Amino acid sequence: INLREFRFVQTMLFAIEEINNSSILLPNVSIGYKVFDSCGSTLPSTRAVMGLIDGVENTGGKSCSSVHVIIGASESSSTIAMQQISGIFQIPMISHFATCACLSNRKEYPFFFRTIPSDYYQSRAMAKLVKHFGWTWVGAIRSDNDYGNNGMATFIEAASQEGICVEYSETISRTGSREHIEKAVRVIRRGTASVLVAFLAQGEMDVLLEEVLRQNVTGLQWVGSESWITAKYLAKKRYSGILTGSLGFAIRKAKIPGLQEFLLKVNPSKDPQSSLLREFWETTFDCRFQSNIPGTKLCSGSERLQDADNEFTNVSELRISNNVYKAVYAVAHALHRMLICGSNAYSVSHSCILKEHVEPRKNVNFTLPSGEQMYFDENGDPAATYELVNWQKNHVGDIVFMTVGKYDASQQNWNQLSMNNLQIIWAKESLEIPLSVCSENCLPGFRQAPIKGKPICCFSCAPCAGGEISNKSSAECSQCPLEYWSNANHSKCVPKVIEFLSYKETMGAVLAAFSLCGASLTLIILCIFLWFRHTPLVKASNSELSFLLLFSLTLCFLCSLTFIGRPTEWSCMLRHTAFGIAFALCISCILAKTITVVMAFKAKRPAKTIPQCSAPLQRTSVLGCTLIQVLICVIWLVFAPPFPHKNTVYANEKIILECVLGSPIAFWVVMAYIGFLALLCFIFAFLARKLPDNFNEAKFITFSMLIFSAVWLTFIPAYVSSPGKFTVAVEIFAMLASSFGLLFCIFAPKCYILLLKPERNTKKN
Ligand SMILES: *[C@@H]1O[C@H](CO)[C@@H](O)[C@H](O)[C@H]1NC(C)=O
Ligand SMILES: *[C@@H]1O[C@H](CO)[C@@H](O)[C@H](O)[C@H]1NC(C)=O
Ligand SMILES: *[C@@H]1O[C@H](CO)[C@@H](O)[C@H](O)[C@H]1NC(C)=O
Ligand SMILES: *[C@@H]1O[C@H](CO)[C@@H](O)[C@H](O)[C@H]1NC(C)=O
Repeated sequence: INLREFRFVQTMLFAIEEINNSSILLPNVSIGYKVFDSCGSTLPSTRAVMGLIDGVENTGGKSCSSVHVIIGASESSSTIAMQQISGIFQIPMISHFATCACLSNRKEYPFFFRTIPSDYYQSRAMAKLVKHFGWTWVGAIRSDNDYGNNGMATFIEAASQEGICVEYSETISRTGSREHIEKAVRVIRRGTASVLVAFLAQGEMDVLLEEVLRQNVTGLQWVGSESWITAKYLAKKRYSGILTGSLGFAIRKAKIPGLQEFLLKVNPSKDPQSSLLREFWETTFDCRFQSNIPGTKLCSGSERLQDADNEFTNVSELRISNNVYKAVYAVAHALHRMLICGSNAYSVSHSCILKEHVEPRKNVNFTLPSGEQMYFDENGDPAATYELVNWQKNHVGDIVFMTVGKYDASQQNWNQLSMNNLQIIWAKESLEIPLSVCSENCLPGFRQAPIKGKPICCFSCAPCAGGEISNKSSAECSQCPLEYWSNANHSKCVPKVIEFLSYKETMGAVLAAFSLCGASLTLIILCIFLWFRHTPLVKASNSELSFLLLFSLTLCFLCSLTFIGRPTEWSCMLRHTAFGIAFALCISCILAKTITVVMAFKAKRPAKTIPQCSAPLQRTSVLGCTLIQVLICVIWLVFAPPFPHKNTVYANEKIILECVLGSPIAFWVVMAYIGFLALLCFIFAFLARKLPDNFNEAKFITFSMLIFSAVWLTFIPAYVSSPGKFTVAVEIFAMLASSFGLLFCIFAPKCYILLLKPERNTKKN
């Protein structure tokens, strides 16, 4: 006799008696019942239903004895078999323990209800649980029946959505061959997954455990389904080495007031005809009522059930029994709503009668005497809430079921599974969460690379690309934000280096030093010229223009400083315009000088009168030429001024802080204008190069213009190629080189004579 099932029966009787006693629920109506033993298999179950149908036929529809509802069965396959018959006769059925998700199919089973949640929810909850503890590589075993197959199919589907891989999925059948069971256990033993998800009915669990024990498979972390996870009889010493630490979802534990007293009153003397009661009594007390075999203990019938601590009398773990209780109450409430009660014209008493035709589809929503709310959803299922149960050893070494969390399918997805902070004991009585993965997580800086022909949970590790990072828990590399770049081992995003030519670095400092040197040198030459301003050489070389040229060269040297340092709005605007104007001024001066020389000699006038008479013309031409450049720059600044810009496109690992031209056309116009002036200068100087030697600067000017052009022509390809600080450096270099070129070509020979050969500084020479 299965004591658990026997307790279910007694719980049903208790509920019926409670309703019979109630004056509110079904007043003056008694509920009758018949109990059949289905033996946990389909054939006796169908036979029992056939018997009931037979009864319906025989009584010819007299409501007093017709069957209104079937409560059962304890298992999905039998329930399905019974439904196929009872459904035809529209007899509603309420199951307390058939969890197969297939039974929620309203088209196929319109008269089926249950007080236990569908496996649809349990399988999902199990997948969530496995995911919660980071197990991505699990084994699976199931009963080879509707319960196991459907439950496992849903689990595997939900698990693959959560990114969990199932290493193997084996079946067990209680009636299957021994070889089949041995083979399944061998697969489990050889598997590398340390977590085993067992969607098994109690019967299969028994045969599996025996074989597991025989092959000595230990250390597995079991995750169980509700059918065995709270089965007290499995928590025996014999299996404790295997099953301690098991985790699984169970129906919520409940208290049924008065049930214990009712159970303890069970006695064969109440119904001497019942063989079930006698068998129960004999099993519990290990005695016989009648025996011919000498030496066997005879039952007296007065043994005390209080003294026998077994699965029947222990009401500390009422889970499925509560479902039976709820099922009976659901029937009572449904019937109650169909009652025609009270005092109508023909009836004097307050008795109630049931309607002739019992309508099976009625919504019920009621509160149990224990305070629990109960209703069926549109599929005939109750609300899905589970307790997470962990098998732990208590201080005397017995296994107890500790509730360590819960699952509520009506909650938000992320909130469904919650833990209650109790210490979970894992397999091998360990306090550490076991690891069950195919491949360990990759180190930071690596991503998971799938291996061909293997499940996604088995992977190798490949390094992240530049600008991508990953941590230990991420499968993929993720791109750093725009202004960030990965660090050396790709574990963090760090701000990109901002690149510009600064005073602090060697190149910037050297260029700045050269520029200051050049400016100082120019000023020194200016001083020398001022000192010797009354000597023939200075007078002859057009002193006014020379001073202006020296001044503009100083500006040319100094404006290269605006190119060094962090670009700001002001320095960007200053850079090119200062450069353009300073150089335009400089070249204009040289141009004026050259034109003067050419005109003087072409005019064939006495030498000493030349510089003075053309002074106004020179001033106007210098001013005019420079003003044109100033005008271009003003237009540029007003309509499209240059501005600083963080260039993230050109280089990945750094940000180039550069001055964007604003209007490239304006920039090239400025450059072209300088080029144009330089070209004019060159042409005039070239024309004048053959003129009388002593007075002639044209040679030097030609040479300086050649240097100038060469420098700037080489600058152009460098400038239009890569942006960055080197381009800026090249630009500064070009400016310094051409300034130095002009300075040396035009002033070095004169300084040489002024300082070292004063004897040649005569009017005659
Ligand atoms: C229900 O109560 C009536 C009397 O109120 C009693 O005769 C009958 O046996 C009871 N039935 C059950 C199943 O307890
Ligand atoms: C029903 O009423 C009878 C008599 O009042 C009582 O002995 C019995 O315990 C009650 N049963 C339940 C389940 O309450
Ligand atoms: C059941 O009834 C209670 C109140 O009696 C109500 O709060 C609850 O929403 C109802 N449930 C359903 C599913 O109708
Ligand atoms: C790992 O990276 C993911 C995103 O890639 C992030 O959500 C998670 O918080 C990170 N974990 C740690 C420990 O940094």
